[in-house]
Amino acid sequence: MTKRLYIETVGCQMNMLDSELVVASLRQRGYELTGSPDDATAILFNTCSVRQLAEDKIYSALGKLRRLKQEHPEKVIGVLGCMAQKDQKLIFQRAPYVDVIVGPGQLHQVPDLIDEVEAGNGRQIEVSLGRRDGSATQIKRSHESFDPLRDAEMRPSPFQAYIRIQIGCNKFCTYCIVPMVRGPEQGRPPAQIVQEAYELAAQGCLEITLLGQTVNSYRYQEEGKTTKLADLLHRLHEVPRLQRIKFVTSYPKDMSCELLEAVRDLPKCSPYLHVPAQSGSNSVLERMKRGYTVEDYREMMQRIRETVPNAALSSDFIVGFCGETDEDFEQTIELVEECRFKNSFIFKYSERPGTKGAEHLADDVPLSVKKARNNHLLQIQNRISEEENRGFVGREVNVLVEGPSKAAEESPQETNVVQMMGRTHCDRIVVFEGNRRQAGQILPVTIYEVSPHTLFGQVITDCVGPEVYTLNV
Ligand code: SAH
Ligand code: SF4
Ligand code: F3S
Repeated sequence: MTKRLYIETVGCQMNMLDSELVVASLRQRGYELTGSPDDATAILFNTCSVRQLAEDKIYSALGKLRRLKQEHPEKVIGVLGCMAQKDQKLIFQRAPYVDVIVGPGQLHQVPDLIDEVEAGNGRQIEVSLGRRDGSATQIKRSHESFDPLRDAEMRPSPFQAYIRIQIGCNKFCTYCIVPMVRGPEQGRPPAQIVQEAYELAAQGCLEITLLGQTVNSYRYQEEGKTTKLADLLHRLHEVPRLQRIKFVTSYPKDMSCELLEAVRDLPKCSPYLHVPAQSGSNSVLERMKRGYTVEDYREMMQRIRETVPNAALSSDFIVGFCGETDEDFEQTIELVEECRFKNSFIFKYSERPGTKGAEHLADDVPLSVKKARNNHLLQIQNRISEEENRGFVGREVNVLVEGPSKAAEESPQETNVVQMMGRTHCDRIVVFEGNRRQAGQILPVTIYEVSPHTLFGQVITDCVGPEVYTLNV
């Protein structure tokens, strides 16, 4: 009988990559993907705990499977990732028909654990140690995960790939669950990273995105030598055929001049930096234990603007954090007005049990105020995003074409001529009338219209050809 896998993924890019690797390992065991739980022999959820809403969604999706599992007890249901690590056995209590619980550090065991369930050996749970439940080395080891080298078929897109360069986080921002569920910060050995990039490029991959929670804090020590992110970028820049290198997410305090100079000097490095500010108020930043002041953030911004003047910047903000006053929020607005981010992700503070914030600070901003601040800030950011995009009208940009646009996907047509989407080197989304066969090419596109989050353009047709265009603006 064919084994069929249904998998749902929420959360950050790290989770997208994790799911990709889980799918790959199950494919090697003969699984095929299916788009419906009814049709699946294994149903997996790769989960996120960063906000309550992300967890609620998963518990509600699990709730909907109760009946299906009663009717088909042979189906294996698994909860993977950050919420599996955070809630552990609680998941068995809340959804007793779940068969497998696997933390982010144990995902390579998923195929074996499913086999165990199918062999009649009962429920399986594999998670890492908590951050106080062992020696530093034991804890690190229990979170360690090694990414296998991948072949082209395993990736959703043959010309783009994520590469993990760091796991975990040691910053312990008071609102954040990530250090608890992903464990201590650990850099991956540079030789492995570079080898993975070579193999990906040999398979036709044009763009890699290096992943880490605080990716610019990356460092790896061996034989008395420390490799930092800037060194890594120099080595990755040598990889033939690779066209674009991105990295997310950057931590403001670790944005070194050396790193900015690498981004400036290496043309394959995208002029795009995601550096979350979280708030524009010093008292809020202090309570968040972010480790910098607004003045530090402004100083960093100035260095970025001076060193990489064409860089697009983006940020994250949390509104309604414990004790945030109207004045604090005004200061966040000022920072957003001043920094002119390409885009910002804005979140309402969500208290996470197990964090210092939940333990020591009252979640005292009413939901209605959080919502109002969220909408207000989003409106301001959208206006700025559109204003910044307007500067692109009439300009030519090089677009790495990813595939049909969302609109084209939603109304599938037989023809090859559809609306296509891709991204500029500075990570702006571009939509244009094109051809499915253009996916995976880097094409010059002239922009004629913009919205806050999209540039609309036209391919410069006399240049369209099967070849991949070399470097980008
Ligand atoms: N490692 C990244 C971000 C990790 S989580 C960094 O340090 O920037 C992604 C974003 O979710 C954060 O930047 C923050 O804005 C938001 N976030 C994290 N915890 C949150 C919480 N408890 N409530 C609301 N938003 C949160
Ligand atoms: Fe969370 Fe802060 Fe670490 Fe980012 S740096 S993952 S916000 S603790
Ligand atoms: Fe969520 Fe885990 Fe990423 S908590 S944001 S999926 S690291």
